[in-house]
Amino acid sequence: MNDLLEELSSSQKLEQQLLKELYELKKKNLWRSPPLIEKVSGVHLLIDGSNYCHFASNDYLGLSNHAALGEAAQKVAPYFGYGATASRLLLGNTKEHQLLEEELAESKQCEAALLFPSGFAAATGTITTLMKRESVIILDKLAHASLIDGARASKAIIRVFRHNDINHLEEHLRWARALSPKRDILVVTESVFSMDGDIAPLHEIVDLKDRYGALLFVDEAHALGVRGKPYHRLGGLVGELGLSDRVDLQMGTLSKAVGAAGGYLCASRIIVDYLLHHARNFIYTTAAPPPLIAAARAGVRIINSEEGEFLALKLWKNIHQLTTALLKKKASSAILPLIFGEEEKALLAASLLRQAGYWVPAIRYPTVARKKARLRITMTAAHTEEEIKCFTQYCQLHFLGNVNSQ
Ligand SMILES: Cc1ncc(COP(=O)(O)O)c(C=O)c1O
Repeated sequence: MNDLLEELSSSQKLEQQLLKELYELKKKNLWRSPPLIEKVSGVHLLIDGSNYCHFASNDYLGLSNHAALGEAAQKVAPYFGYGATASRLLLGNTKEHQLLEEELAESKQCEAALLFPSGFAAATGTITTLMKRESVIILDKLAHASLIDGARASKAIIRVFRHNDINHLEEHLRWARALSPKRDILVVTESVFSMDGDIAPLHEIVDLKDRYGALLFVDEAHALGVRGKPYHRLGGLVGELGLSDRVDLQMGTLSKAVGAAGGYLCASRIIVDYLLHHARNFIYTTAAPPPLIAAARAGVRIINSEEGEFLALKLWKNIHQLTTALLKKKASSAILPLIFGEEEKALLAASLLRQAGYWVPAIRYPTVARKKARLRITMTAAHTEEEIKCFTQYCQLHFLGNVNSQ
């Protein structure tokens, strides 16, 4: 056997190892295969010739199919083409990019904003650039992978506090401040958590970080367009709580409620200028395509308009309908997890739903912790009352007894 292994080429050896790991994934019910989507129209999908109603996207306001986004994209394509063809610092910087940054900064009540090609790039780019080896980053235990990867890549000292546990956060802050009075400390959290849908206690976190002279980074990926003051839903939870001037770094994505793609970071002018000169995720990558940015601007305009407010209210009506029927508790966002625990149970529930024409994927490790497998139900403004009623009835009938916790 050893002789046989010796004879394998390097690539064969690697493949043997990978195959072993892939086989392990299959054995543990952790194998993934992305569905091939043939058509999407609002919450309706065509996959493999079958129609489904999905409760699975982050298109919270239903804007990704909105005609205004397509029209905006088409309008700018003749001027700039479909691809930006260069980084922002070379030839990729158009008026669309600049205007969107100004509009985001205004909505977030910040001095400036910087666009990145994705939310993931905005998170990793910002954290790695601003934090140094001697800095301390304190992350919520359930922080998104992009925040964890940014912290790791920065080489700063990392501490993790129990999810939404203010006392544990304070322990870490006390420890970090005791290391040195001057050290940069960055607290990192999401405002709406992507897999649990609960919200961070931002008032308490802001008070604490001020008390210990730390900085705060808030990822608003799932809050933007959903939370926020009426007619100011772009403000997210930070804006809703009136904390815009106390959160140092507001990050988010244009790929969810806005219905387009791209990430942003809103902060002071100095921080944004520094990122523009140093963030490798910004400098060494092609700018987001201008038509996409124009579509994002259209999404932003809608969110700020009468129509956007109507959609946000419709979304919340839908959330209440679903939570009252299924979870029997108040929701904080459009993300409503049904936690099964065992991977197998969550897969079975997803498969039962598929048979009935509903698409809700099972979320498993490593996206969530082991034995925390779940259906991550997401609500949008595009669902009808009847669709929600039939879906909840089906869930109640078939597997609600299997749910461990919510
Ligand atoms: C909490 C959170 N942060 C960041 C991201 C990354 O955003 P994007 O999809 O634009 O890269 C996501 C989306 O997957 C997310 O859920």
